Amino acid sequence: MRLGVLTGGGDAPGLNAVIRGIVIKANQLGYSVTGFLSGWRSMLDGKSIPLGLEDVETIVRKGGTILGTSRTNLAKIENGMEKAKVTLKSKNIDCLIAIGGEDTLGVAAKLFKSGVNTIGVPKTIDNDLESTDYTFGFDTAINIAMECLDRLHTTAESHHRVMVVELMGRHAGWIALEAGIAGDAHIILIPEQKFDVDEICNMIQKRVDSGKTYTIIAVSEGALPKSLDQNLTKDNEVDSFGHIKLGGIAEWLAKQIEQKTKQETRHTVLGHIQRGGAPSAFDRVLGTRMGLKAVALAEEKKFGQMVSLRGTELFSVSLEEGVKKLKTVSEERYAEARILMGK
Ligand code: F6P
Repeated sequence: MRLGVLTGGGDAPGLNAVIRGIVIKANQLGYSVTGFLSGWRSMLDGKSIPLGLEDVETIVRKGGTILGTSRTNLAKIENGMEKAKVTLKSKNIDCLIAIGGEDTLGVAAKLFKSGVNTIGVPKTIDNDLESTDYTFGFDTAINIAMECLDRLHTTAESHHRVMVVELMGRHAGWIALEAGIAGDAHIILIPEQKFDVDEICNMIQKRVDSGKTYTIIAVSEGALPKSLDQNLTKDNEVDSFGHIKLGGIAEWLAKQIEQKTKQETRHTVLGHIQRGGAPSAFDRVLGTRMGLKAVALAEEKKFGQMVSLRGTELFSVSLEEGVKKLKTVSEERYAEARILMGK
């Protein structure tokens, strides 16, 4: 069999581990692998490279993706699906493995419906796909965020400041929730639960009154105060999947807090630092296993499926089902964080 592989959407630590898993398993089965460059864009320009064992020898340790990525949405491009079919035919690809989040896998599902053999591997640092317990990249992201929070504790404590830290997470607050708990944030704010600025200020005041000299707040980029109807954005631009560029909630909240509590307040945006650098052991292992599993699915001709982790076992679900629902933070999970908050 001749396999194709591409990585789409935002990069995530562990992508190269998946590529390694795919190439090693394919090699064992005598399959060839073609790596398509820069996500779905490669279906338009045909850019690809052959991938052999020597190409993946050392990549498990590397962050990012050796194939490059893009947010090109094939479904929005005129004759995009047809162009993809022509490209895949010209490269003699029997099955295309797409590694990506809901957007990338949504395109893979559409391609499958239009007659192309596709298989999906879920990826997102946001960990917000309902169809899998974990996506690789998330563990690395929360560990980076936790380390940053650790560092912010010492400077906030020295200056007796409130520090508002903005973390990634458009619709789901998993990064703020888990990095916030691990990194000992005193207040955690997520997109799933609108927050009241006065309530936050009261928590800070209570800490001050009880002799606590500083406060760390972890806030998801998509978190929304009750007083606003819309998320804060960097600009009005949307990407080809219709996502706005979020950003600014930490700065906005820091100003509100300083005004209302008179406590000196600073904000920090961790941004793409959360996605950069070497993957954690968990993400290297999960990525490798998902890569091996994707090729096993191709061998079984289970096209139109995506790899899914349930507990510690890998299964598969249909691509269509797999991208249907976002996994958001439940009220119960947030209630756990609330118990820790303000202390
Ligand atoms: O989807 C993953 C993610 O990291 C989100 O958390 C974030 O909002 C977005 O990507 C950032 O996208 P970009 O890399 O295009 O700025």
